[in-house]
Amino acid sequence: MNGPSQEMLELARQMMARAHAPYSRFHVGAVLKTDTGKLYGGCNVENAAFPQGLCAEASAIGNMVAGGETVIREVVVMAKGEPLVTPCGGCRQRLREFAREEIPVYVCGPEGLRHTITLGELLPLSFGRDHLNISKA
Ligand code: THU
Repeated sequence: MNGPSQEMLELARQMMARAHAPYSRFHVGAVLKTDTGKLYGGCNVENAAFPQGLCAEASAIGNMVAGGETVIREVVVMAKGEPLVTPCGGCRQRLREFAREEIPVYVCGPEGLRHTITLGELLPLSFGRDHLNISKA
C-alpha cells in the first residue's frame, strides 16, 4: 500500500481527460495494475440514453480482459472536485470479480493520492466466485 506510482497517476489523468461525459460533465479516470505489473486505463463513457453509460472502472476492466489479463493488484480512481470519488456499488462488485479483498483502491484527485482503502472495506462480506464453487480461471 505504497500509493500509486507516478505512471499510474499520469495514465489516470490522461483517462480522465478522455472521458465522454457531456451529460454529467463529471470526468472519471480509472487505472488497474495487474499481477504482471501492466497498467490498463479506462474512462467513463456516457450515452444519450442515460442508463447505458459506462463507468471508468468498467471500461478499464474491459480493456484489461481484452488485453488478456484477469488479476487486479491495485486500482486508481481519479476525479476532480472536493468529495472523495470511490467506485460505485456496481463497480465494487465488478472489481471484486478480478481482485482479492486486500488490494488497495487509491482514491485520487488530479493532484494525486487523497485516500487509500481496500476493496474489502468498500465491499464487505462480498459475494464472489468462491460462493459458486468455481476455482480461479
Ligand atoms: N462514474 C465513474 O465513472 N466512476 C465512479 O466511480 C463514479 C461515477 C461516472 C459515471 C457517470 O458517467 C459520471 O461519473 C457521473 O455519475
